[in-house]
Amino acid sequence: MRILGIETSCDETAVCLIEADGSFENAFSYKILGNALLSQIEIHRPYGGVFPNLAKREHALNLVPLLEQALQEAGELTPNNDATSGALLIPLKQTLEREQDLFERLVPFALKYQKPNIDAIAVTNGPGLEPALWVGVNFAKALSLLWNIPVVAVNHMEGHVVLSAATETSLSPIEFPLLSLLISGGHTELVLSRNWMSYELIGETKDDAVGEAFDKVARLLGLPYPGGPEISKLAHEARSEGREYPHKLPRPMIDTKDFDFSFAGLKTAVRRHVDANPGMSDDEKSALAREFEEACTDVIIKKTLNAIDEHGARALVVGGGVSANTFIRERLSAALQDYGGVSLLIPPSNLATDNALMIALAGYFHAEKEHFAVLNELKAHGTLRLAKRA
Ligand code: KG4
Ligand code: ZN
Repeated sequence: MRILGIETSCDETAVCLIEADGSFENAFSYKILGNALLSQIEIHRPYGGVFPNLAKREHALNLVPLLEQALQEAGELTPNNDATSGALLIPLKQTLEREQDLFERLVPFALKYQKPNIDAIAVTNGPGLEPALWVGVNFAKALSLLWNIPVVAVNHMEGHVVLSAATETSLSPIEFPLLSLLISGGHTELVLSRNWMSYELIGETKDDAVGEAFDKVARLLGLPYPGGPEISKLAHEARSEGREYPHKLPRPMIDTKDFDFSFAGLKTAVRRHVDANPGMSDDEKSALAREFEEACTDVIIKKTLNAIDEHGARALVVGGGVSANTFIRERLSAALQDYGGVSLLIPPSNLATDNALMIALAGYFHAEKEHFAVLNELKAHGTLRLAKRA
């Protein structure tokens, strides 16, 4: 089956075409036919964060060129010689009523090329920034009408889980229960799966997500958005030069018996240090970044290991943008060495942040089970949940 993934939940616009076969249970394999991604980071940077309506506008401008790029790579752009295809544009106009920029780009594309060899479309319908999600959802609907193929709605967090469990061509062998640590700009969650595609929320942040804390602390230290990679760079520098911050930051909720997190207090503690020391030198800043990164990591590791113990997890999946963090990756993998037999499944750093491969892969497993969306009921849900509390 050939499936086209579309991702627009935040500040990455992405389109990916894969060909996949088999199922979770039986001989799954896939290959990437075409993959295109455009990050809006530079556009949002002056605002110090993602600006939802700007993200929406950029998705609308870039989806069609990215689709064209992905199809070109897949060898699926064939010129159209059918003069009657103009009739197809009427449903497109209705579907993209609120997406004028997108409509204006899709029309020439639709007239120019034949239907590619694709069986279904997978689109992120949440969670994320709702105006941004809507662009992808409406685009998927329009392509579904244009090519007469079904749509699968994919939860963005499930995309992170599935991609973390995937290898370059297949799935890692997985034993259940499987614990997923999902750490991104919008989420910090521990999710338990007793089987494929079944999710139970066992812990989450009570306030800021860990990526959000990285971004906010970066801003306090005068670093650009997104803060995660910047903090990580400074922290690494301080560590390799043996520089430590003279004060300890709190490790919020590290000793509580639950699997919940809290990062707002940690960010406030950093703010207090920055306010108390207005002329902070670069060396002090990087030492503080190091202490902050270590505080976050300590809490994440402790809670994750507690959850593995309590639920007898046999594998740990780590997904979401923060899983690109080298220090967190190293500490997690070292910690799991003492947990004989618990395997660590973590995507390469370049696939940790948002992309459309993760949506195509998760979408395939739904499509394979014919979990297709009813087009006029398909909506974007900014607060869509992957799992409920057990
Ligand atoms: O999953 P993602 O691309 O988007 C969301 O769904 O949120 O995650 C983005 C988040 C941002 O907060 C960013 O600062 C953080 O992931 N991030 C990192 C690193 N790279 C990205 N945080 C810590 N260390 C990193 N190396
Ligand atoms: Zn994400």
